[in-house]
Amino acid sequence: MTASSLPRHLTARLGIDWPVIQAPMAGTSTPAMAAAVSNAGGLGSLGLGAMTAAAAGDAIRAFRARSARPLNVNLFCHRPAQPDGAREAAWLERLRPAFESVQAAPPAAIGEIYKSFVADEAMFTTILAARPQVVSFHFGLPRDAWIRALKESGAVLIGTATSLEEARRLAAAGMDAVVAQGYEAGGHRGMFDPDAPDNRLGTFALTRLLARELAVPVIAAGGIMDGRGIAAALGLGAAAAQLGTAFIASAESAADEGYRAALFSDAAHHTVMTRVISGRPARCLANRFTALGATVQPEDVPAYPIAYDAGKALNAAAKAAGEPGYGAQWAGQGAPLARALPAGQLMAALIAEMNAA
Ligand SMILES: Cc1cc2nc3c(=O)[nH]c(=O)nc-3n(C[C@H](O)[C@H](O)[C@H](O)COP(=O)(O)O)c2cc1C
Repeated sequence: MTASSLPRHLTARLGIDWPVIQAPMAGTSTPAMAAAVSNAGGLGSLGLGAMTAAAAGDAIRAFRARSARPLNVNLFCHRPAQPDGAREAAWLERLRPAFESVQAAPPAAIGEIYKSFVADEAMFTTILAARPQVVSFHFGLPRDAWIRALKESGAVLIGTATSLEEARRLAAAGMDAVVAQGYEAGGHRGMFDPDAPDNRLGTFALTRLLARELAVPVIAAGGIMDGRGIAAALGLGAAAAQLGTAFIASAESAADEGYRAALFSDAAHHTVMTRVISGRPARCLANRFTALGATVQPEDVPAYPIAYDAGKALNAAAKAAGEPGYGAQWAGQGAPLARALPAGQLMAALIAEMNAA
């Protein structure tokens, strides 16, 4: 595949050279990672979903200090958490043995540790003022008025779909492109309603379906780890590929030592979709937390991100005791194909492989 034979419409719109998007990864992507990817001709992304508006502004400034190229900022549009004191108390009791196994006790209470973008006026003001070239959404859509304002600011808007129905809603709301997130994907499943039935479509079928049914460009995500995978996604009709797991082990990633070690261990062959860590389904490297989740009913887990408050407390206690197995070690099914390269070098490899495929 040569540059001239690539589908140009989305890349031209995004202002990038190659149809490669580094996935926004809250907690793992960094301004340095995004800048390295954008400087290599792809689209670097910042996962701002779990940040305050002030921290998001700092992250955007840190990117801009390293790159003048396009930037994608990503926000979480989940339904604001509905507290349920009885369920939260029962959940903390359920986690007590895990806390005790690392010489700790569960917190007395847990709460909504970050706001949904749909309820975060300060974040909207920050993003609008910063004028990123691309704004993307996970877990649903923001307010109509905010979509209009961001589009008027010149931003290209992207939404995540795990089904044709979600994709149609995104396109109808004015998204300029839709991420087809297959069940293979690492991290949180972008489904709008985590309690709705899930047909668990894989990247291959979902990408092809959306490419056929939607008038807007489709970005394939889930299990894509190298240039051959990117070329395959383009062959299915995708206008670009979004890769998350491929960048976790990069030098610029915020992944800690335990996460990196797990990624290059047997756990990479056993990723698990679980909601026990955060309160929403997410694909994680098999670890002590995912094992605990095997016996849990979904309705027993507190709402997202209230459950994540407990999950982060458990991980912090475990790490302090030298136990890395309670981390949110998100990864997709392609995890065994991960490479530990600086993000710019990984981009160069992905482009060379894609062009050779
Ligand atoms: C560590 C990690 C964190 C993620 N965080 C986000 C996020 O903040 N926002 C988002 O839209 N997607 C997030 N995702 C999902 C990615 O956008 C993408 O769908 C996924 O990485 C694709 O599958 P892959 O990991 O197999 O490449 C995350 C994925 C990973 C692996």
